[in-house]
Amino acid sequence: MLGIYIHIPFCVKKCPYCNFYSTSICKYNINSYINAILNHMNIYKKMELQVNTIYFGGGTPSLLNANHIERLILAVKNNFKLYRHSEITIEINPNTLNKSKLISLKYMGVNRLSFGVQSFNDSELNMLGRTHTAQESINIIELAKNLKFENISIDIMIGIPGQTFKSLNHTLSIVEKLNIQHLSLYQLKIEKGTPFYNNTPSSIANDDVISYFYMAACKKLESIGLKQYEISNFAKNGKKSEHNLKYWTLKNYLGFGPSAHSFFKGIRFYNIPNLDAYMLNPSKSTITEPTDIKFEWFILSLRLNCGVKIDELKRKNFWTPNFEFKIKKLEKEKIIYIKNNNISLTLKGMLLQNSVILYLYNP
Ligand SMILES: C[S@@+](CC[C@H](N)C(=O)[O-])C[C@H]1O[C@@H](n2cnc3c(N)ncnc32)[C@H](O)[C@@H]1O
Ligand code: SF4
Repeated sequence: MLGIYIHIPFCVKKCPYCNFYSTSICKYNINSYINAILNHMNIYKKMELQVNTIYFGGGTPSLLNANHIERLILAVKNNFKLYRHSEITIEINPNTLNKSKLISLKYMGVNRLSFGVQSFNDSELNMLGRTHTAQESINIIELAKNLKFENISIDIMIGIPGQTFKSLNHTLSIVEKLNIQHLSLYQLKIEKGTPFYNNTPSSIANDDVISYFYMAACKKLESIGLKQYEISNFAKNGKKSEHNLKYWTLKNYLGFGPSAHSFFKGIRFYNIPNLDAYMLNPSKSTITEPTDIKFEWFILSLRLNCGVKIDELKRKNFWTPNFEFKIKKLEKEKIIYIKNNNISLTLKGMLLQNSVILYLYNP
């Protein structure tokens, strides 16, 4: 079944590290934007596609009011066949919604909340230019739990300038207390074109320290029942992100809104990363340069803890004597491990993922 991604390209304030496409909410009429998405979705109506995940990402989807979200969910229902038990996720900036909006979201079928917490230390949140405090994050997550949301995810960052082992442990101890179902652990990336790129804070940790933080965080998360299933993602039983799994397993998904990407019937394409241009012509997209789909499958599969099946590697003609030799070498160096005829990266391997892929893939 298909996944639907809806990009909400509005933020209250641009964070200095972020290069996701977003703009100020004040300048736009949200209903006109939603009309553009509705027009875009309508081109798929005749195909009668079955959908089982909707993901509102951003930008800041939680800035929309409940009526906007409801219109978008109804649009999915009108243009696709929405499975009854679909996963419906919304990304939330912690200080952008209140109890009544959460109740409305629940009522209209949103069943997964993804909070952009980043850290439970106010000094780190300040450094990241976030507009919320640690306590505001705790309060809104507790409120969501009280309202019986049973699939709550939070985003945490490592490598924040000034972050220490002690401050990371503090963040993880709050994660433990909150007893949430899913966590994404991202390493702060210094993205070209952002204020952090042009003026990188000097207190950023080096690669060795970040590797140490990553390994320590993975261990802690495992000990509190958040099992790693992908390089950056951890979940309690049955709570893996169904939508994001589509990205890593080459399933079909359609993206709506400026800058959103799609993978449909073996073709990758994306919408123009400009809100005005998208609103003028929402169904205009650009096909991404064709990539080697076999290579993509290999890279994406290695991101997952379940890894790749040796039989599948053989079927796809990866398994040459040279490839087998390299696999044995990586196994000896504890970069990969083989279990039940499956090859997966170890934690050390995950940190070296890019080099491992290049090493294995080059003849
Ligand atoms: C694009 S944001 C959208 C959600 C929401 N606006 C927020 O900021 O909480 C999704 C997540 O991407 C992550 N992210 C954004 N820029 C990043 C960067 N440069 N490096 C690492 N993670 C980043 C953050 O953890 C954030 O929670
Ligand atoms: S990190 Fe989130 S809130 Fe900050 S600019 Fe990016 S999308 Fe907006």
